[in-house]
Amino acid sequence: MRIVFSLIALWLAAALALTAGAGRCAETQDVEHRVSQLLSQMTLEEKIGQTAQRNLGAVLASPGDVAPELLNPLREGAIGSFLNAGDVRTKNILQRIAVEQSRLGIPLIYGRDVIHGYRTVFPIPVGGASSWNTALIERAARIAAIEASASGIHWTFAPMLDITRDPRWGRVAETCGEDPYLTSILGAAKVRGFQGRSLADPTTIAACGKHYVGYGAAEGGRDYNTTIIPERQLREIYLAPFHAAVEAGAATLMSAFNEINDVPASGNAFTLTRVLRGEWGFDGFVVSDWNSIAEMIAHGYCADEKEAAFKGFTAGVDMEMVSTTYENHLMAMIRDGTLDESVLDEAVRRILRIKFRLGLFDSPYRDESRVDILLHPDHLAVAEELAMQSAVLLENRNNTLPLSRGLESVAVIGPLADSPVDQMGTWTMDGRIEDVRTPLAAIKAYLGPSVDVLYAPGLEKSRSMDRSGFAAAVDAARRADAVLLFLGEEQILSGEAKCRAFLDLPGAQEALIESVAETGKPVIAVILAGRPLTFESIKDKVGAILYAWHPGTMGGPALAKLIFGEESPSGRLPISFPRTVGQIPVYYAHKNTGRPPSERNLGIPTGTPLDPRDFTSNYLDVDFTPAYVFGYGLSYAEFEYSDLTLSSNEIAADGVLKVSAKITNRSDVAADEVAQLYVRDLVASVTRPVAELKGFSRLRLEPGEIRTVSFDLRAQDLAFLGMDMQPVIEPGLFHIRIGPNSREGVRGEFRVR
Ligand code: GLC
Repeated sequence: MRIVFSLIALWLAAALALTAGAGRCAETQDVEHRVSQLLSQMTLEEKIGQTAQRNLGAVLASPGDVAPELLNPLREGAIGSFLNAGDVRTKNILQRIAVEQSRLGIPLIYGRDVIHGYRTVFPIPVGGASSWNTALIERAARIAAIEASASGIHWTFAPMLDITRDPRWGRVAETCGEDPYLTSILGAAKVRGFQGRSLADPTTIAACGKHYVGYGAAEGGRDYNTTIIPERQLREIYLAPFHAAVEAGAATLMSAFNEINDVPASGNAFTLTRVLRGEWGFDGFVVSDWNSIAEMIAHGYCADEKEAAFKGFTAGVDMEMVSTTYENHLMAMIRDGTLDESVLDEAVRRILRIKFRLGLFDSPYRDESRVDILLHPDHLAVAEELAMQSAVLLENRNNTLPLSRGLESVAVIGPLADSPVDQMGTWTMDGRIEDVRTPLAAIKAYLGPSVDVLYAPGLEKSRSMDRSGFAAAVDAARRADAVLLFLGEEQILSGEAKCRAFLDLPGAQEALIESVAETGKPVIAVILAGRPLTFESIKDKVGAILYAWHPGTMGGPALAKLIFGEESPSGRLPISFPRTVGQIPVYYAHKNTGRPPSERNLGIPTGTPLDPRDFTSNYLDVDFTPAYVFGYGLSYAEFEYSDLTLSSNEIAADGVLKVSAKITNRSDVAADEVAQLYVRDLVASVTRPVAELKGFSRLRLEPGEIRTVSFDLRAQDLAFLGMDMQPVIEPGLFHIRIGPNSREGVRGEFRVR
């Protein structure tokens, strides 16, 4: 009888799967049919209109507020999209004109930079990435979509998928760090979070993988600067996260400002057509970055706007953000035969396809009552959880942290202790300072009236050089049992075009630390910044360093819970921290070279050139290793790794290696650990990095608990691009390691046959 039931169950499951698949297939066919139908009715003007994205940056009170210079293009179908189109009512007003007063009623698609939350602001992306919590990152993106869509937004210009190994670059704040594997996993999670199961769900928004591609490799860490990236690195490092996002169903991509190997990314047929469409089969559309089509003139790649339009459009950028070369020149080029109309049809098809998938033709207007979902307590709870899991404990001498809640008084000092705008970080146009819970307010609330919280900013802003506030800060420190210093970078030092040639704490913050440290009280430095900073000179002056990035709306409560031990810090660095800016680029997945530096070169004091020690790849005036390695982060617990176990010591080229290790929590504190799996291909037909992240798992261990963490490593995960630029799995010896970061752990080795 049981067999009968299981057979019926099997049949039902198969039938359901088939129907679902068929459903999706029918949906696709329906969309393709509707796109073709519509396309066949469109005039040249209407087709070109779909390729135009305008910036609005205004809020309209009523239809009467729509300026004539906007009204006519909308009625003529000459605009396909807006970015920054105000509130949901404004968007509905414009949409009604586009849909009800134009010949074909093609709806507008509204884009916005919802980079790390909308009204509920999450930690900046490099902070969120420090959680290594894929599910939580997806959840945060889902919340961002719920809030943004309630405001009438259809499409976010996120996830940013750029890889960078250069903290001088201000946009490191928006990345998931230095590693393509971690960025691919987290980027795909964001795409899923934004887009949900169906773009037609009005609480989802279309994702936009950006900036396609190589933007984070800017020379000198200077934004918009030149990138020279050999094809193997371009594919294995910079393109990989975009491929993962496309595989996850990303609806759109955004082309970048930079040039790649002498050709601007926004006019690069190799990346935009050969790779993106030819190899990956991407069927969404590509939008340019702000003015990046017209900027190909400044690049010296186009003589004028007409050539910029031609090169951008034929390379594969379907929609032009803000500059107007397409609307000014495509018509003439099609009429004089320079540009074939089929190229225009293909671009418009992609744009219409996404508009249909978004359901904009069936329901172009958004419910204006949903805005009360913003800042929902559940959203704030997730923002606090992610801020908590994003903070990385870098130093904790003699268990300075956690502080006891029983202390009588605590000094809260520093320019970032009570600065709502700064703790939200870059790209927070829709966050509001009145929503932000700062560390000062949160610590007061957390400790209650029985504990004296003595506040002294010490410095007004992170760049302040005026030390007149130091006396009050030192006085507060003297009167307190412990000192919490909130330091770092103010918001405007982070993000686009915010690059720095020095990575020290700005202003007189180091002097503030020294002055406060002289009191002899336990001092904890909590750093809120948009990038890795260098602080070798002060790290021995404080008992603990907690790196909070820019933690967003709920940064205060999150940090209070960590500082007072309600939860242990569990963040792990998604990017290496240099000891000094002169080391850049410094990253874990480096090559071994023919003369790797040795232990003899460790411990060299920063800035003091010593006698040369040997002829290896090292510095005379700094220890060649990073200050903190990729994957690093301390905990209040103590985790011990042991018993690496391999399912075999050899696998075939199509085999799978099961690898596991034991983790023991040797402390009396429950905490999360992020176990990381690294491999090294010792010898290959092209040199390979000394380590590559191939897996990670975040797991909770109670005091004394022993858990086994396991990974299935497929031989195909070891593939790389050979001399012929084709993926290859080569036989040979591999090292494998499971550990707490990119340098430590339990090791083993295996062979690929
Ligand atoms: C900016 C940024 C891009 C952003 C776009 C729209 O210049 O490069 O990341 O999405 O313009 O704001």
